[in-house]
Amino acid sequence: MLNEITVRKMPFEFPSDIDAVFVEGDHKRSFNFIAGSLLLPHLEPYLIRSMKAAEKYVTDPVVAEGLDKFVRQEAQHYQMHKKFNDTVRLAGFPELASFEKELSDDYHRFTNTKSLKFNLAYAEGFEALTMNAVKHMMEPNGFGEDLPPFMQMVEWHFVEELEHRTVTFDVYEHVFGDYLYRLFVGVWAQWHFSNWMRRVAAYMLEVRPQQKIDKTIDREEKLARVQPASVGNLLPGLLRIYLPNYTPHDVKISPGIQQLADKYTNMALETS
Ligand SMILES: [Fe+2]
Ligand SMILES: [Fe+2]
Repeated sequence: MLNEITVRKMPFEFPSDIDAVFVEGDHKRSFNFIAGSLLLPHLEPYLIRSMKAAEKYVTDPVVAEGLDKFVRQEAQHYQMHKKFNDTVRLAGFPELASFEKELSDDYHRFTNTKSLKFNLAYAEGFEALTMNAVKHMMEPNGFGEDLPPFMQMVEWHFVEELEHRTVTFDVYEHVFGDYLYRLFVGVWAQWHFSNWMRRVAAYMLEVRPQQKIDKTIDREEKLARVQPASVGNLLPGLLRIYLPNYTPHDVKISPGIQQLADKYTNMALETS
């Protein structure tokens, strides 16, 4: 059940000049998605820097191999999100630049001034939360057939998040292994990035307020699933990541996700 980490270079192309409200009539959903996509080209390079800094302390060859593949997968992810972000028309949102600068400054400050232990605990805080959210949104079989390119991008990214689900946990445990510290920093990390996304989406909504949702628009239900799941539904998965005996090694992934992994391997320009 999804035990291999495959680095895939994907061929996705996006239509140029996408309107910021790209989920028709649904500003909120569109802006939540954009906030997440704007986060990643800052967050994922920070995760990569943290993992690379840990590399010299990792003596277990299995953990070291996971670390290497994690770094190479995340590098593909943020480049693809950047490509998507560049096609979205964001000119009408002048404050986004300062939101992004604040985030980028934070992550560079963490790399330059915080301990490796902090940076690895942050990484695992992010990975644990997103892995559980992704599982909730994707299982059992992903988002369905005939997806537009940006949804395929999300599906490919999510599959790889599930593939590398154990890596940041293993690196932290291998190098430090301090549960309480991981718990506190992890919870803070989860607040830090989700609060940034919330503020960005709220700002975008202020600039382009939600119109009354036109119920006659037959929006694809698949789009609805790429939303942060409601807290109620996520709760059991979320609570589990805070327990002292939590390990992502025990998380079961449904077999349909392996089929998606194979699909994206076949679609990839290059794999390693
Ligand atoms: Fe990623
Ligand atoms: Fe990840």
